[in-house]
Amino acid sequence: MEKIVLKNVSKIYMIDEKPFYALKKVNFEIKKQEIIVVLGPSGSGKTTLLNLISGLDRVSEGNLYYDDVDITKFNDAKLTKHRQKKSGFIFQNYNLLEYLTVYQNVLVGSNVAQEKVDVSEIIKVVGMTKHQHKYMHQLSGGEQQRVSIARAIAKNPEVLFCDEPTGALDETTGKNVLDKLVDINQKMQTTIVLVTHNPGIAKIGDRIIKMNSGEITEVIKNKRIKPQDIEWA
Ligand SMILES: Nc1ncnc2c1ncn2[C@@H]1O[C@H](COP(=O)(O)OP(=O)(O)OP(=O)(O)O)[C@@H](O)[C@H]1O
Ligand SMILES: [Mg+2]
Repeated sequence: MEKIVLKNVSKIYMIDEKPFYALKKVNFEIKKQEIIVVLGPSGSGKTTLLNLISGLDRVSEGNLYYDDVDITKFNDAKLTKHRQKKSGFIFQNYNLLEYLTVYQNVLVGSNVAQEKVDVSEIIKVVGMTKHQHKYMHQLSGGEQQRVSIARAIAKNPEVLFCDEPTGALDETTGKNVLDKLVDINQKMQTTIVLVTHNPGIAKIGDRIIKMNSGEITEVIKNKRIKPQDIEWA
């Protein structure tokens, strides 16, 4: 994948029989290996945008191209296959498998990876080695978030979608996680689309897109700074 192109992408929900635009005619282009950071207030459409680009959800209007292929034309089976092949996710609400341990959850990610990855090493990076045989209900929110990050990294996807990946983490763990994301971005040419509320974190990106009320209000070119050097807000 060399680029992703959004053309007049809208997401419309019917609220009290009136259309509500969660996203309104968004135009944007993402190049391979870019780190795109999405900033915006709660309800501005960040998660909606991520879900559309990744193929988790469908656009109401507009087109979405991976290279020259319009994925809005795919049927459900084809879209699922596309997503499994290309996209990795770190969800805002973790979406972990409750009946599996930490190790097994990360293993699920690695099972769909194109290349073999070292599950134990990834668990170590997120600082979860001593918890690796615990089940999800035995973990704190931040620990679950780290499992979700490890699982996404283990999949080694072409595009990694991260929705507030460090929202529940302390500064040290958060910066280590961001370091790992930047590291795979460089080593594996992984494209990263990352949502955050933290303006400090935005500085790790190549471009920062600001959203408000379902629209992109500003696109800022940024010179990346290292995660360890960001100001943690
Ligand atoms: N299934 C749905 N039905 C109706 N409205 C929805 C639905 N999903 C999202 N919305 C609305 O769309 C808007 C954008 O939601 P979205 O989840 O993308 O916001 P967000 O920017 O990710 O916010 P946050 O920072 O709180 O996660 C919100 O006003 C939300 O209420
Ligand atoms: Mg959200």
